[in-house]
Amino acid sequence: MITRRQASGGILASAALAAAPTVVVAQEPKPFDLPPPRSEGGQPLTTALKLRRSTHEYSDRPLPVQVLSDLLWAAFGVNRPSGDRTAPYWRHIMVMDIYVAMADGVWLYEPKAHTLLPHLKDDIRAQTGLQDFVATAPLNLVYVAHGERMTEVSAEERRLYASVDTGFIGQNVYLFCASEGLATVFRGAVDYPKLTRTLQLPDQQFVTFAQTVGYPHA
Ligand SMILES: Cc1cc2nc3c(=O)[nH]c(=O)nc-3n(C[C@H](O)[C@H](O)[C@H](O)COP(=O)(O)O)c2cc1C
Repeated sequence: MITRRQASGGILASAALAAAPTVVVAQEPKPFDLPPPRSEGGQPLTTALKLRRSTHEYSDRPLPVQVLSDLLWAAFGVNRPSGDRTAPYWRHIMVMDIYVAMADGVWLYEPKAHTLLPHLKDDIRAQTGLQDFVATAPLNLVYVAHGERMTEVSAEERRLYASVDTGFIGQNVYLFCASEGLATVFRGAVDYPKLTRTLQLPDQQFVTFAQTVGYPHA
């Protein structure tokens, strides 16, 4: 599906090494191993809570790869040897995926390996929401639920529990952003059918919400 320059080169080019010369190499995209998340630093929780807010104006400045790593770990990374996560989840069934939409394409966050798996080569940021800033902010997270893993509950309950799972992840992102001086907003204003098609999601997987992350507009 994807013919693109080296995947990791794309991420690096769109992140901290944007000024470095880009070597264009036609080859299959590869998973991009994120650097280990930093486990120290940041603001005290009470400070982050004071600073938490939604932001609607973003700089187009890319996120450094280390910040992306820390952000995704804070969102829904593995925080225990059991493989469990920084956010609680319904019935101990892993339902939520996080897709990462950036200028260089769409990636699927794989928390166990703390890796980004290439998903689409296109810049679909504009299609992740109905507000103008989504097209130019460096990062939009798209939260996707595996409905097929939610057996023995109605479609309504699937949507409910997946939304709650997403809300916890979203709040982790809010607090991380508050701590790091980043801007974010959790979003339900999404053209769901269109985004589902754009992401080429298999049957029964559905988008719950999206969340923009970037630096505040100067
Ligand atoms: C379920 C949910 C959906 C939201 N959808 C949007 C949205 O589509 N666009 C947006 O700009 N903000 C959205 N928000 C953010 C809220 O508007 C925002 O949290 C609220 O106005 C309070 O502002 P604060 O986050 O700065 O405290 C949403 C928040 C939640 C919890």
